[in-house]
Amino acid sequence: MTLNELATSIHDCRRCRLANSRTQVVFGTGNPHAAIMFVGEAPGYYEDQQGVPFVGAAGKLLTELLESVGLSRSAIYIANVIKCRPPNNRDPLPDEVETCKPYLFEQIRLIGPKLVCSMGNFATQTLLEKKVGITKVHGRVFRLEKFVLFPLFHPAAALHQNALLDPLREDFRKLKRVLQELAPPSSPEASQDQLAPSSATTQLDLF
Ligand code: URA
Repeated sequence: MTLNELATSIHDCRRCRLANSRTQVVFGTGNPHAAIMFVGEAPGYYEDQQGVPFVGAAGKLLTELLESVGLSRSAIYIANVIKCRPPNNRDPLPDEVETCKPYLFEQIRLIGPKLVCSMGNFATQTLLEKKVGITKVHGRVFRLEKFVLFPLFHPAAALHQNALLDPLREDFRKLKRVLQELAPPSSPEASQDQLAPSSATTQLDLF
């Protein structure tokens, strides 16, 4: 199965109650062969309207943070644990996470990223398969079987709680160093298909 086929297969998903209130399934966006993937919680109002993750206020902050470390949205892949907007942006319920997370795992398998950044508690706990608080694990590197996990505070949380903004920016600076460590030494033969234009970011995108 390809990523497109997976997207098509769930575009009319009715496996949980969120099908009754959503406008559309928000599958994911970006480079289907990305080495770096970002995973959030669930679509909000604008994502539900547009069918694209992280296009509202939290998305603007995410885009700014990505650019601050030389990553463009088109070089990475962005998805959520939950593909449909919960009513009034409430927290996803445990059975909704259980029902939807196989789609995220399949997305990750098909994309094959080296590094996954989980944003917030839901994404981090889903991918770590452990009930840990983001405050404890943000900015730490977890070497999982198939990829490295790098948990971050959720950008929406940083918009609501100003005190989280600096730690989030600091974690992005750390992310840049993690990417440099994961990247093999640059060589002329290395694939450049994920290179962002800025030369300062060359190392980040080569692995
Ligand atoms: N918050 C999320 O977790 N995901 C989105 O797509 C938007 C906001």
